Amino acid sequence: MAKKGILVTGGSGLVGAYAVQMLMERGERPVIFDVALNERLLSAVGVDTSKVTLIRGDMADMPALISAIRDNDCDQIIHLAAFLGEEVQRRPYSGVRLNFMGTINVFEAARLENVKRVVFPSSGTVYLGSLGEGVKQIDENIPMNPPSVYAATKASCEFMGRAYAKRYGFEFICLRYTGGLYGPSPAALKATREIAIQQMVRAAVKGEAAKISWPYGPAEILYGKDAAKGTVLAVCKDKFKDTLFHIGNADMVSGEDIVKAIRQNFPGSNIEIVKTTNPMPYPDSRLSSDFSRAKEQLGYEPDYPIDKAVADYGATLKKLENL
Ligand SMILES: NC(=O)c1ccc[n+]([C@@H]2O[C@H](COP(=O)([O-])OP(=O)(O)OC[C@H]3O[C@@H](n4cnc5c(N)ncnc54)[C@H](O)[C@@H]3O)[C@@H](O)[C@H]2O)c1
Repeated sequence: MAKKGILVTGGSGLVGAYAVQMLMERGERPVIFDVALNERLLSAVGVDTSKVTLIRGDMADMPALISAIRDNDCDQIIHLAAFLGEEVQRRPYSGVRLNFMGTINVFEAARLENVKRVVFPSSGTVYLGSLGEGVKQIDENIPMNPPSVYAATKASCEFMGRAYAKRYGFEFICLRYTGGLYGPSPAALKATREIAIQQMVRAAVKGEAAKISWPYGPAEILYGKDAAKGTVLAVCKDKFKDTLFHIGNADMVSGEDIVKAIRQNFPGSNIEIVKTTNPMPYPDSRLSSDFSRAKEQLGYEPDYPIDKAVADYGATLKKLENL
């Protein structure tokens, strides 16, 4: 029998491109559904775009979503399409429409097309409001307390996913990427932290000096490839006990640590960070996350500490932008 397809919404974004590459490497059949197909990024991370189904489609277009699942015989969905935090901060209504209603469309399509599993990326921001006295480590039991509209869209989708799954019998697997992601995808709609890291890596690759605005304290950051690894494990593993997992690396990284990793990889680079004001309503002081549940049940282990990530990031950006 032919292999079932795995629909990947937002499949040509940062996590999506890596996830599609990893799925293909494992002999799976991903089907990309993305409003702005980025074949350059897919190729740069090793996807042979002639061998993958690419569908240009909008999350608001329910018939297109259903056709994509039906025509390609998909029985799982990885739903990555979303606006990220700062874009939602700027345009909350658009953010809610895509992040919340787009996800409801996925749940409806899943129930109508008898999809067996939906994997949804939530975010470490859903519990940021709960950080405070007494909390020593962040595991999946920390109460949700979303301090931004973006975080609230993710928390709402967590609740809705659980309710839909219970009512309609599909599996809803929620992965909280516990660190701010970074990687070589286009930075236009990204968080300032992601944009700043990209500016640092680009300047180092080009051998240019750069002064980068950095309003953050030490925090967990996660290379896109590691987020994709956890995500792919959540669709490829057959059975596991829980439905909510932290995907992170528990490394607290400061701006200075990133500059140091860049200097190690690009000796002679001249990057300076400048303290500015954080555009998001998030606490400066963070705690690292506990991802032991994902380790035990999914076999997840991060592969990219900051120094290794910077090397891979630089090489991919070089390829992507002909630097
Ligand atoms: N970046 C982070 O720091 C972070 C942290 C935690 C969770 N997440 C979540 O992880 C997921 C993937 O993030 P990413 O960094 O790969 O994002 P990304 O911006 O790189 O990719 C998102 C993809 O969604 C597509 N898209 C946007 N609007 C669409 C629409 N209307 N219809 C169809 N496709 C659409 C974009 O074209 C893009 O390819 C998102 O759900 C995000 O909320 C991200």
